[in-house]
Amino acid sequence: MNRAADFDRERLSDLMAVEERRFLELHPRSAELAESGRRHLLAGVPMPWMTRWPGGFPVHVAEASGARFVDVDGIEYVDFCMGDTGAMTGHGGGGLDAAVARSTTMLPSEDASWVADELHRRFGLAKWQLTTSATDANRFVLRFARHLTGRPKIAVIDWCYHGTVDETLAILGPAGSVISRPGAIGPQVDPATTTTVVPFNDVDALDAALAHGDVAALLMEPALTNIGIVLPRSGYHDAVREITRRHGVLLVVDETHTISAGPGGCTQAWGLDPDMVVMGKPIGGGFPVATYGMTEELAVTLEPILHGHEADVGGVGGTLAGSAMATAAIRATLSTTLLEADYERMIPLATRWAEGVAGAIEEHTLAWSVQQLGCRAEYWFCPLPVNGADAAAAVDDQLDAFMHLWALNRGILMTPFHNMALLSPAHTEADVDRHTEVFDAALATLT
Ligand SMILES: Cc1ncc(COP(=O)(O)O)c(C=O)c1O
Repeated sequence: MNRAADFDRERLSDLMAVEERRFLELHPRSAELAESGRRHLLAGVPMPWMTRWPGGFPVHVAEASGARFVDVDGIEYVDFCMGDTGAMTGHGGGGLDAAVARSTTMLPSEDASWVADELHRRFGLAKWQLTTSATDANRFVLRFARHLTGRPKIAVIDWCYHGTVDETLAILGPAGSVISRPGAIGPQVDPATTTTVVPFNDVDALDAALAHGDVAALLMEPALTNIGIVLPRSGYHDAVREITRRHGVLLVVDETHTISAGPGGCTQAWGLDPDMVVMGKPIGGGFPVATYGMTEELAVTLEPILHGHEADVGGVGGTLAGSAMATAAIRATLSTTLLEADYERMIPLATRWAEGVAGAIEEHTLAWSVQQLGCRAEYWFCPLPVNGADAAAAVDDQLDAFMHLWALNRGILMTPFHNMALLSPAHTEADVDRHTEVFDAALATLT
């Protein structure tokens, strides 16, 4: 069987050159706009990661609806990226346009308590707050955790991603050291002074790391999703909960991506019992909102400081967080989408997608694999990894770029980061089958 490493790299580079020419021919207007963007946009794009799209410049979008979008050159695509979860409810759905046509007053609206009740219903935690991004939500829960425990450090999983939170941009280095994640720009302080890093799926390492007594919180995704999907081993979460409790460490579960598992994320689907939950992007249907929740016990301790005169300079804030617009966006989204009935449609579509990919891998006798977490699925150029370091070692930039550009040139958008597909209620079986066909043709060309 072929491992990714066995491919003839020169041939792959020739195939890539063909795809790059094709991309240029298909996208003259996007090319013009990319050129104009280089005038006054840093790196030519509004956000740095937009430089990562294959083809030399990003396709520029004209309009999007449901699971599709049309670019400025008039080409229609099936979107399997869905704003990297931000638009997993479908583009332009859920009555969002009407809901957000409000301003901000710094006062709560009638949507606020509805939203908190609904978050409680889904995730089980007692008290909730709103932020403008999951990054902010993570920053704030870490502050609260340090305040509550009086401990200086936080623990994260090796090769995690929780947004642009300084303490989390750390990985395990040689001999168990903690180092900055490759690519981290201008770290405030050496992350070894703020952060303990533990491998996913390794309970002994977690136990040993937390035994030092200096960690306030373990912040983790229930399954890794940002270095590809890595699922927990059986019994892992029970052990994590027992170990964190035993060492007095708060357990914070970031469900921003793992909401793919169901309406209350893995917390609900797998019966997890965290002290705090962070939930981001999709709950606003693409509008910038996020939230964090905590147990009653933690809330009772925190509420007195939040009523204090200095609450607004406590390092937990955001003028536009919790605005009438933000709460309206969440209510519009959670009352109409990400419901049980949506998952009954989305998850079988993801299974069909994964089966299509697995079938093609088998047909072409490759030692690749495919993983699924609810309505999210992803293929690997290797057998399934069990932790972040294995997953990171399996990343193949050349092959990634080829697969992404091959798909894009045939009307299929995958996330720019790895080989993930997200299935929304707006996708159809025909969209999935089109992906299978295009994926199969890529393998036929490669092998
Ligand atoms: C698990 C997780 N948490 C937090 C974030 C940060 O979200 P945002 O960029 O919206 O702040 C991300 C982004 O991908 C994420 O995957």
